[in-house]
Amino acid sequence: MSKQVLVLNGPNLGRLGRREPQIYGTTTHDDLVARLIEYGRELGLDVEVRQTDSEERMMGWIHQAADDRTPIVINPAAWSHYNIAIADALAQLGAPCIEVHISNIAAREEFRHHSVVSAHVTGTIVGLGLKGYELALSWLATD
Ligand code: DQA
Repeated sequence: MSKQVLVLNGPNLGRLGRREPQIYGTTTHDDLVARLIEYGRELGLDVEVRQTDSEERMMGWIHQAADDRTPIVINPAAWSHYNIAIADALAQLGAPCIEVHISNIAAREEFRHHSVVSAHVTGTIVGLGLKGYELALSWLATD
């Protein structure tokens, strides 16, 4: 059986492709989902990609992953910069968790420089575009 990995995308990432394409590119979220499932298959991973704008739903997914010890790739989007509840939920994970940001948050507005979740993840990939998700999956495949 393939190792299961959850990719969790936070608010506004469902609008990839239409949202500020000069920053986030023109690939849609549906295209990203297809690409990650296919890439995961090549790596021997069973990848499931979810996106939500609802904090409650995201908390539920993280709690379930903590109970099941499922590895996670997460882009908490704007929540990264202020949401202590999401950070507290990630702190409960027993399996590896990679934080991904499509853009280089360190090179953008000051309020994006700090991520409150980074202290609770295994590692972070920032500024490498959608490729960052693939890099996270390939790390998890060898972990
Ligand atoms: C983001 C960066 C965040 O600052 C922003 O709020 C997002 C996307 C990224 O992937 O670059 O929504 O997490």
